[in-house]
Amino acid sequence: MRSLIPFSILAASAFSSAFVLPSDPAVFSASSEAGVQRLIQISPTETRWATEEQKLELKRQGVNFMDITDHQMLGMQNAVTRSEMGIMKTVEFPEKVMFEDTIKPLLKNLNKDNMKANLEKFTSFYTRYYKSEHGRESSEWLLKRINETADGFADLKLAPFPHHWQQSSIIARIPGKTEKTVVIGAHQDSINLFLPSLLGAPGADDDGSGTVTILEAFRVLVEHLKKTGEKLEQTVEFHWYSAEEGGLLGSQAVFSSYEKQARDVVAMLQQDMTGFVEKTLKAGKPESVGVITDYVDPGLTEFIKKVITEYCDIPYTLTECGYACSDHASASKAGYPSAFVIESKFEDSDDHIHTTEDKIEFLSFDHMLQHAKLTLSLAYELGASNKWSGKGGDEL
Ligand SMILES: *[C@@H]1O[C@H](CO)[C@@H](O)[C@H](O)[C@H]1NC(C)=O
Repeated sequence: MRSLIPFSILAASAFSSAFVLPSDPAVFSASSEAGVQRLIQISPTETRWATEEQKLELKRQGVNFMDITDHQMLGMQNAVTRSEMGIMKTVEFPEKVMFEDTIKPLLKNLNKDNMKANLEKFTSFYTRYYKSEHGRESSEWLLKRINETADGFADLKLAPFPHHWQQSSIIARIPGKTEKTVVIGAHQDSINLFLPSLLGAPGADDDGSGTVTILEAFRVLVEHLKKTGEKLEQTVEFHWYSAEEGGLLGSQAVFSSYEKQARDVVAMLQQDMTGFVEKTLKAGKPESVGVITDYVDPGLTEFIKKVITEYCDIPYTLTECGYACSDHASASKAGYPSAFVIESKFEDSDDHIHTTEDKIEFLSFDHMLQHAKLTLSLAYELGASNKWSGKGGDEL
């Protein structure tokens, strides 16, 4: 996520609260990149060159970007295929929710204590900075935890998605009757924007919260499929991206690979920050799920609103976060319908992020539970839908 806080506050907090140097020398590794120019995209039509230090400075100023250096052609192949086939329309989503009878009982199995225990462990890594040994270790722990959570589910295809930096992304695939794929995403890396290679970054909200939220929804979905032997229509995948904070690097690598394989992704939902409600409540506003309305697929977003209304105990509120504010932007650039939900209105979101202060103590697990309800409901509604059966060939 992008940071809302002025750099001065960020710096003060970085220094005052925990100027503890890591004991592990492996985190001192950034300097070899000084001066290397990266190509970044800051709007659908604007690119520019920037060093790693300039990238950090942009993030400190709250400017979002994609670092497209490695994936400059993302979306080109799908765009060409579409135009050759004369396909203009995007994916159509169901008119209404269909599976209340199955989903409502499952929602009761979502458990706050699991999210809390997972987040306590996940925030105990000094940082989850993608270019650090700590980031590699946190990713290895997460992979192991996902595997344990699936508890021997035979259909599951679980694998790390390696990158040319230390921390891998992770993909958990639940094969359906078709290759049409619904993706549920969050990012696993954290960053301290002041000195990423030196300072700690617990990243409890950004995006430890999204990571454990989708993991809990995954747990309940897998448990249900194991128990009933049900096979969903669509393939459902859970993604934990690396290097969101580097300019959506992990998710671009994943969706670039999906585009090359001509993978048919019908929907992607990103959740980045799902636990902070303090500012909303202090402002006297109702606790809500923030549905992002800019740079998202309108059809998918409409369906998500219906899912929240049906399955969550709190309403949604509409809000915007700008270009490339999280990994759904990579899916969208690849030509796949994507959407984004966040803990609140964007201006009321957590302002401790990207510092040593992004801690669990500021978060609400009751609120995270609402996001887990949304996640599980959406995954099942779109996973089980027969909306796309037998139509074939009219979407990518
Ligand atoms: C998951 O756990 C099983 C059993 O311990 C192991 O054989 C398998 O390699 C693990 N998978 C991954 C992706 O780590």
